[in-house]
Amino acid sequence: MRIFVVGGAGYVGSHCVRRLIAGGHEVTVYDNLCAGHRQAIDPQATFVEGDLGDPVQLDGVFEAGRFDAAMHFAAFINVGESVTAPLKYWHNNVANTLNLLQCMEAHGVKRFIFSSTCAVHGEPEDLPITEDLAIKPINPYGNTKAAVEWMLQDSAEAWGLGSVALRYFNASGAAEDGTIGEDHHPETHLIPLVLQVPLGQREQIKVFGTDYPTPDGTCVRDYIHVNDLAQAHLLAVEDCPAGKAEAYNVGTGNGVSVLEIITAAREVTGHPIPALTTDRRPGDPPTLYADAGKIRHRYGWEPRYRDVRELIETAWRWHKGHPHGFADK
Ligand SMILES: NC(=O)c1ccc[n+]([C@@H]2O[C@H](COP(=O)([O-])OP(=O)(O)OC[C@H]3O[C@@H](n4cnc5c(N)ncnc54)[C@H](O)[C@@H]3O)[C@@H](O)[C@H]2O)c1
Repeated sequence: MRIFVVGGAGYVGSHCVRRLIAGGHEVTVYDNLCAGHRQAIDPQATFVEGDLGDPVQLDGVFEAGRFDAAMHFAAFINVGESVTAPLKYWHNNVANTLNLLQCMEAHGVKRFIFSSTCAVHGEPEDLPITEDLAIKPINPYGNTKAAVEWMLQDSAEAWGLGSVALRYFNASGAAEDGTIGEDHHPETHLIPLVLQVPLGQREQIKVFGTDYPTPDGTCVRDYIHVNDLAQAHLLAVEDCPAGKAEAYNVGTGNGVSVLEIITAAREVTGHPIPALTTDRRPGDPPTLYADAGKIRHRYGWEPRYRDVRELIETAWRWHKGHPHGFADK
């Protein structure tokens, strides 16, 4: 297939592009590099530097590309910033997605894979999180992702768009060969922050809250390896439902606490990684983990990285080789 990938220079997108190319697909990466990295783009992909907010350029790329499918990773991703600057998030994550969908409709491209998030469920009433729990985001970031999922449902009805929204849990890890990995500015994700300590870039790691109703009192999350996410994208695009909007959780189903991540990172790096416990942050649900039964049954997808140490080993290989991220490439 010829696949248009917007956001293919970013963290998850760059790993997915590799997987698509290894799977025999032709990929065009479209990215404005506002958060992505030119060095992260697979050299076998065609790269077009462009913004989703530019419908004229988008139209030209679709005219030339004759795509069979589109994958959409391009969004602003910082939950905290979305609370203080919600319109920035509605603009990029929703209005710009509207541009893309209008362009796809105009060019008759009817396969779409969307990067959604478990944040569409907010603080879920039940665990593990299944796809049919209420959609009740608790911040503007989650609202924008839910809004796009609704656009996809309406588009399926009206013009036959087939789409898969993959609701990621905590994307983590890096390519096995250590050549691409996570490089966000600012970094807000736990594993790269923890690894900044053995890199000598941070003295200690802060643990926000040790009195949650969890086994060790710290928050529990579901860490899913970026290569497992990439495999889910490959399966979804190759067998995209016709004229229907579907949504799948992509997580391991295992909850791992903040302290367990720190302990695993100590084992992997051999560094003591001092931790400083401090108060809870507002808006952190105690426990989030997936029921991934739906994607397992539909696509035969299975996470390969079940042990969080193996996942951290891949992240460590990347960060150790590139302590300043892609600036070191
Ligand atoms: N990282 C996670 O843990 C996680 C969890 C759940 C969902 N997601 C979703 O997955 C997607 C990818 O996340 P990521 O961590 O790889 O983010 P990222 O910031 O690393 O990648 C996003 C990419 O999109 C590009 N981009 C943003 N706006 C654009 C625009 N208007 N036009 C063109 N390109 C644009 C950026 O330059 C960047 O390369 C996002 O949609 C995010 O909401 C991520």
